[in-house]
This record gives sequence, C-alpha cells and structure tokens, in this order.
Amino acid sequence: MLNFVAHRQSLLHAMEDNSIAVIPSAKLQVRNRDAEFPFRQSSDFFYLTGFTEDNACLVLIKKYDQKSKSLQQQSYLFCQTKVKEMEIWTGYRLGPDAAIEHLSVEQAFAIEELDKQLPDLMSDCDSVYALWGDDKVWDASLIDAIEKVKLKARTGVSAPTAMLAVEPLLHDLRLIKSDDEIAIMKRAADLSAEAHVVAMETVKPGMYEYQLEGLIRNHCAQGGARFDAYSSIVGSGQNACVLHYTANDQVIKDGDLILIDAGCEINHYASDITRTFPANGQFSAEQKALYQLVLDAQLAAIDAVKPGNHFNHPHEAAVKVLTKGLVELGLLNGDVDELIEKEAYKPFYMHKTGHWLGLDVHDVGSYKIKGQWRALKPGMVLTVEPGLYVSPDETSVDEKWRGIGIRIEDDVLVTDTGHQVLSENVPKSVADVEALTSTNK
Ligand code: GLY
Ligand code: MN
Ligand code: MN
Repeated sequence: MLNFVAHRQSLLHAMEDNSIAVIPSAKLQVRNRDAEFPFRQSSDFFYLTGFTEDNACLVLIKKYDQKSKSLQQQSYLFCQTKVKEMEIWTGYRLGPDAAIEHLSVEQAFAIEELDKQLPDLMSDCDSVYALWGDDKVWDASLIDAIEKVKLKARTGVSAPTAMLAVEPLLHDLRLIKSDDEIAIMKRAADLSAEAHVVAMETVKPGMYEYQLEGLIRNHCAQGGARFDAYSSIVGSGQNACVLHYTANDQVIKDGDLILIDAGCEINHYASDITRTFPANGQFSAEQKALYQLVLDAQLAAIDAVKPGNHFNHPHEAAVKVLTKGLVELGLLNGDVDELIEKEAYKPFYMHKTGHWLGLDVHDVGSYKIKGQWRALKPGMVLTVEPGLYVSPDETSVDEKWRGIGIRIEDDVLVTDTGHQVLSENVPKSVADVEALTSTNK
C-alpha cells in the first residue's frame, strides 16, 4: 500500500518552519469542443494524496500555533463537492466529508472555498511553497492571496515574504522509491515485458506498425493497466531512426528491424521498455553487428548502475563500448579515446543513456547537484537505453549500414549492493530475439 500520509509528512518535515505549500491537481484537457482527453492526475498531487479527481488542491501548513505554543503540521484538501446532478453526468465524487477519512487529511473543504480561505491559511506564514511557473493563472491566484494577507497588516497579521519552489524538496522525495513504489513499478515492468514478448511472437511483414501498438495496449489492458506511460513508438525500417516516432502508420516490410518503445503505467507508476527485432525472425549481418554492439553497450551501462557511481557513469560506459565498436565495424575512423573526446559518436548516438523513472516516465529529480553528477543511491530507478541510429542520409558510412535504428532499454533499480533490472523478463540476446520472432513464421 502506498503511504500517502508518510509522503506528506516527509514533505512537511522538509519544509521551513512557518510555511505553507499549495499543490493543485491536474486539470482536464480539452481534446476538441466538449470532448476531453482521459484524465491523468498530476504526479506531484498523486504522490501526496493518492486522490485521482480533478479540480482539487492540497494545502500543507507547518506553522507555529500561539495557543498550543507548538509547531503544528496540517493537511487540508479542497475538492469537488458531491452534487447528484453532476455525478450523473461525470461520475462519482468523493466529496470533502469522505475525504477526511479516506485521505487522512485534517480538514477538507469545497474547492470553491479555496480562494476565500487561502489568505487566512497563509497568514503568519513566512514562505509559500508552490510549483511556481507551471501555470500562470494559478501563480496569479496565489499572488493575489498573498496581497490579501498584506492588506490585513494593521490587524497584526504578517504576510509571506518568500515564494519558494516546492520542487527541490518534493522531487528529491519522489526520486527515492519506497518498497511499495518499487513493487508497483515491478508489476508495470513485468506486464510491459509480457506485452513486448507478445509483439515479438506476433510480428509479421505486412502488418501495420499500429497493429503491434494495439497488441501491446491490449495485453497491458488485459493484465490490469488502464493506461500507457507514454505514447508507444513502433518504428519499422528507417522509422526506427526517428527518436520520437509515434506516427506508427507504416507497413512493416520483410527485412525490416522494428523498434518498439512502449510501457504501461500501473497505479500511476511507469515502465519504459525498448526492444528492437527483425520482422522476419532473422537479423541481417549488418543488423546483427549493430544490435550486438548496442547490447554490449547496454550490458556495460547496466553494470555501472550501483551505489558509489554517479548518474552519468552508465552513459560513459555505453559511449566507450559504442565508440570502440563503431571503429571496429568501420563506421568511425581514428583513436577511440580521441573520438570519445570529440563526441564523434553523436551522429549515431545523439541522446543520453537514461533518465529517472517513476510516476513520470521522465521522472523528476535533478541530475546534478552543484554542477556534479548525482550519486546513485538505493531506491533510485533509472532507464538504461543506449542505441545506434544510422540515418538513411548518412553518406559518411557504407550504404549497407544506412537506415538501421536500434535501441535496447531496460528499467533498473539501484539496490544496496548494485542493481536489479525490473524489466528483465524481455529477452534481448540475438539468439533469444531470433527464436521469439521466428515463432509462427
Ligand atoms: N519512452 C521515452 C524514453 O525512452 O525516454
Ligand atoms: Mn526511456
Ligand atoms: Mn522508452
């Protein structure tokens, strides 16, 4: 069970004395006219509440109480009230009364009360923590509330004097996953892994890329994941060289490699897996050589995920293996160390080797602290996803390499002694991938 109360307590603990934090829910987004995109809760708001309705706001207060002469920590939720007529159209609402018990907040109010109550809640607070800059309308309403407190100065009330970013505190908490969060992420990775295997077993030349996308979505839905963590990438042939290819509308051809980057989310936690495999069950010689090189780089990078190393160590390991291999295969010429220094690999490998993973697929948490790469610590989860992409227009290399795009991506947890690959259930050796993709051919 995710412990949202503990998440709030940790944030309150990190906040300055005499401060208030105001964290809104996500808003429904219009798709067209009165049709909306499926609602996805703000990850920050979800982390602190577990509440999945829109039109809500969490207020955390850590303030010295004159009566009890002690520092009080309180959570207030503002949410939609229960209105029968509205619930008939848009569904069940928890409502403020039930919120107190269900979400273990000290008090809950109608969302319409927020503007009225904020000046009082902010009174005698020195600082206001918020996601400043995320939403200008929201920023303006918080500044308006601060102005209202200032107007009460003659009554002896003091107004906040500091507007602080909540992100450094909140996102540092989100960066280290609890055992419960890790268990959910493992479930998401396991389910996505199964879906990748289904895609590999089913692929055939002549299918549309979006048909593989549909297979993956269906498998995840049947397994209990309502949503994908991001838009699936299913790129066949040279489409695999487009890093954020999501058109997924081309016919898969005999001889193509297919790159699938897809992952479901479970209870708002993401998985993010990429595999690249031959449509007809057999890598060509060039495809196999580049695939093996990316795999070697990925295994070296995964080996570098351990406490004591920093975030960029896996990238450095991957770049070393890739550059050496590109020289051996004749795609680059020169001294390996000099080529790394000059970043000569960049035409073929233009992205970093991973990112934090959690409630967001590109999860929060700074990558550097005071200019230094962040040390890896147990409970962090990151992706390891090296690739090689030889553009169809890359005239510096022999024609036989052009148009090949490969990425292999796994989700890796930092443990006390090293790492655990959460997405380990999707095979990736050449032999295993050929065996899987040869099924049903
Ligand atoms: N699926 C997005 C990424 O791999 O970063
Ligand atoms: Mn990724
Ligand atoms: Mn990915």
